[in-house]
Amino acid sequence: MTARITVKKLHKMKQEGNKITMLTAYDASFARVLDQQSIDVILVGDSLGMVMQGHDSTIPVTMDDMVYHTKIVSPICKHALVLGDLPFMSCTSPKQAIKNATRLMQQGGAQMVKMEGGEAQVENIMQLTRHGVPVCAHLGLQPQSVHKLGGYFVQGRNQKIADKILNDALLLQDAGADMVLMECVPVSLAEKVTETLDVPTIGIGAGRGCDGQVLVLQDMLGISEKAPSFSKNFLVGQSEGIAGAISDFIISVKAQTFPSDAQCFY
Ligand code: KIV
Repeated sequence: MTARITVKKLHKMKQEGNKITMLTAYDASFARVLDQQSIDVILVGDSLGMVMQGHDSTIPVTMDDMVYHTKIVSPICKHALVLGDLPFMSCTSPKQAIKNATRLMQQGGAQMVKMEGGEAQVENIMQLTRHGVPVCAHLGLQPQSVHKLGGYFVQGRNQKIADKILNDALLLQDAGADMVLMECVPVSLAEKVTETLDVPTIGIGAGRGCDGQVLVLQDMLGISEKAPSFSKNFLVGQSEGIAGAISDFIISVKAQTFPSDAQCFY
């Protein structure tokens, strides 16, 4: 197993064109398998509300839930960087962002925090950056806004929204974000954001042009109730079981054979 992944290393990976691999985990058993396969980042995502708790959205997930799961995953990881997710309404002001990022890092052991939102998060990211907290911004489809959006749809097919996503990415980078995740955006937009930013981009349903890829673990193992079209079941035809599926994901992302055209939006 190689040395621990740091934020500095993630930035270097972008510069070197070495694709970043990220999967979600919410418990010790899966975190151990992911870490042993040398995944770069483990996201303790608020997607746990759907895949672990059985809700139909991420909205019911609380800070206590996030701290609980992050605290289980973090001590297991010897290699992966642990990215903790800030759930619905947990960073609506700089004061609240500081309080909840402190919980994720101090009680949960996360090394970076993720938050959904564009320009509304500028002040919050500036405050966290000022206090030494690495932040991953989440743009494009923001599942915490599902009721405002009216469903889980591709974002940025329309030029006005695409321009806003690019502009938000730049604002958030300037505010101090160390990484930008884009969910369900057209390939050309994700490529443009990736070329424009100095910090690494991670895509989920955003094409191969991003600096890295993330999937929800249960989707890529084929055990979600309904996996999205941009995901792939890496367990199909796998003779090495779950560890083999995770290794295949890592190899496919590094070789840029995942996502395929069929798993992209245009
Ligand atoms: O919560 C999560 O797992 C996420 C991914 C969908 C990127 O935010």
